[in-house]
Amino acid sequence: MTDYKIIDHKFDVVVVGAGGAGLRATLGMSAAGLKTACITKVFPTRSHTVAAQGGIGAALNNMGDGDDWRYHFYDTIKGSDWLGDQDAIEYMCRNAVPAVVELEHYGVPFSRTPDGTIYQRPFGGHTVRHGESMAKRACAAADRTGHAILHTLYQQCLKHQSEFFIEYFALDLMMDAEGRCRGVVAWNLDDGTIHRFQAHTVVLATGGYGRAFFSCTSAHTCTGDGNGMILRAGLPLQDMEFIQFHPTGIYGSGCLITEGARGEGGYLTNSAGERFMERYAPNAKDLASRDVVSRAMTIEILEGRGVGAHKDHIHLHLEHLDPHLLHERLPGISETAKIFAGVDVTRDPIPVLPTVHYNMGGIPTNYHAEVMKDGNGTIVPGLMAIGEAACVSVHGANRLGTNSLLDLIVFGRAAALRAKELIKLHQDHDLLPEGLETKALDRFHQIRYANGKYKTGSIRLQMQRLMQTHCAVFRDEKLLSEGVKNLQNVKDCMTSLEVNDRSLIWNTDLMEALELDNLLSQATVTLASALNRKESRGAHAREDYPERDDESWMKHTLSWLNADNSVVLGERAVHLHTLTADIEPIPPAKRVY
Ligand code: FUM
Repeated sequence: MTDYKIIDHKFDVVVVGAGGAGLRATLGMSAAGLKTACITKVFPTRSHTVAAQGGIGAALNNMGDGDDWRYHFYDTIKGSDWLGDQDAIEYMCRNAVPAVVELEHYGVPFSRTPDGTIYQRPFGGHTVRHGESMAKRACAAADRTGHAILHTLYQQCLKHQSEFFIEYFALDLMMDAEGRCRGVVAWNLDDGTIHRFQAHTVVLATGGYGRAFFSCTSAHTCTGDGNGMILRAGLPLQDMEFIQFHPTGIYGSGCLITEGARGEGGYLTNSAGERFMERYAPNAKDLASRDVVSRAMTIEILEGRGVGAHKDHIHLHLEHLDPHLLHERLPGISETAKIFAGVDVTRDPIPVLPTVHYNMGGIPTNYHAEVMKDGNGTIVPGLMAIGEAACVSVHGANRLGTNSLLDLIVFGRAAALRAKELIKLHQDHDLLPEGLETKALDRFHQIRYANGKYKTGSIRLQMQRLMQTHCAVFRDEKLLSEGVKNLQNVKDCMTSLEVNDRSLIWNTDLMEALELDNLLSQATVTLASALNRKESRGAHAREDYPERDDESWMKHTLSWLNADNSVVLGERAVHLHTLTADIEPIPPAKRVY
């Protein structure tokens, strides 16, 4: 006997997730006249994009540094350690300038230069003339850029009458026998009803899975639910071994201190008070790309030069900066440092540590946001993915700061443009085959009635500690193999999961269990992909294979998860070609900063 009601909906497009990517896509779809629903497990302006701080990258050249989108293209490829697809990178960097101008016109309250143009600051790995000097490319709204963008996009969606289904938890995709995505099944947290959303196109904009790790800058909601749905649908994820550690998470809490702090002149020191980045990256120093800075900090700590009683972190100095600048450009992190580290940034350094921040891997897509299901780039009809959930791949093995907000906006927009081409206005819906929701509901109820002995919180903590240790800044065969083995033990606990609350209304016990299930599947393919890649590239630093190996490993990893939890790995060629003849591809080279 069922104790819930199933409600049916038909939309042209259903976007799952209301962060920057989801809202930009929703806005574009609605503005194009497509009947669009956006379903989201949190209120849209509470999505994790709200926490993005330092800026969105676009070569506007407002600061007169001679910046150009072609330099942005070069920096992004170099930052990706030549794993990024150059056609997609061209698409993103070329469209960055109009995309940011469009945001300005939508009403994003960017900080301003004395001339009234958008203020831009330096960020790691962004240069002009291929490394000659640092670029000022991060378009900033103080240090609350994501907040400013998210609120503006939500307002624009409301203006265009997009329909929101707020506090609905998406359970699974509805895939038909031909492999076409027909919609999504969701649970309304507020009244316990189950919803079948039929759509010509589903867009997954469900964000990353930072919460698979113990210390991360991600919100508790960042559980990669869309990635979990993809794996359950028998589709692959791509490049899951590449986890970005942000150099400056606050020691202890993991809260983000923006790279913009170093962009404004902040610097790192070790226990000897040495500005050690000068040894690791003589040109870019503290503004080398994130993987380089995170590794340098980790080496300093491992070699005994960390600060504090346990010599286990690093100092970030801002106290030499003008208090007026701190107040105007970095108010958010000044407050965060006070609350979470008890530090007055005008007087003392902030204790920081590399902290999990971003997943370069995700759902493989082309630059139109269409999901691909194999190494040949075969499209899954009716399915798109954007934002951190997706792997376009513009970030390759390491993302540059500010390119995440940009990715959200450019590919959110691209998804809307593509949907407009593919879906006719008022297009009829084909009959939905019976029972496409059955698998989703079977899983839902299996977890809902789980009657074992391990609570979600205890299994989650085991997984988070394991991932933090075994999938860290530096990895090797032994660490990763142990990680794979130990994760299996953690997953075995899921067969004895305990969910106490059986109700369907605001059952956070159940929702967290479903999120944990999503996290575990992603942790599984992450470790398997990391163990498989026998080279060092970008954020994947193998101590047993310290060099990049283009001959054997310049390729994307694809990973599938079988029902029995075994992982199947495959590959996809990196696109070393550009999109247009306007620009030459950048051939692989040694990456120095
Ligand atoms: O440091 C930051 O403000 C983060 C930016 C980003 O990840 O792009």
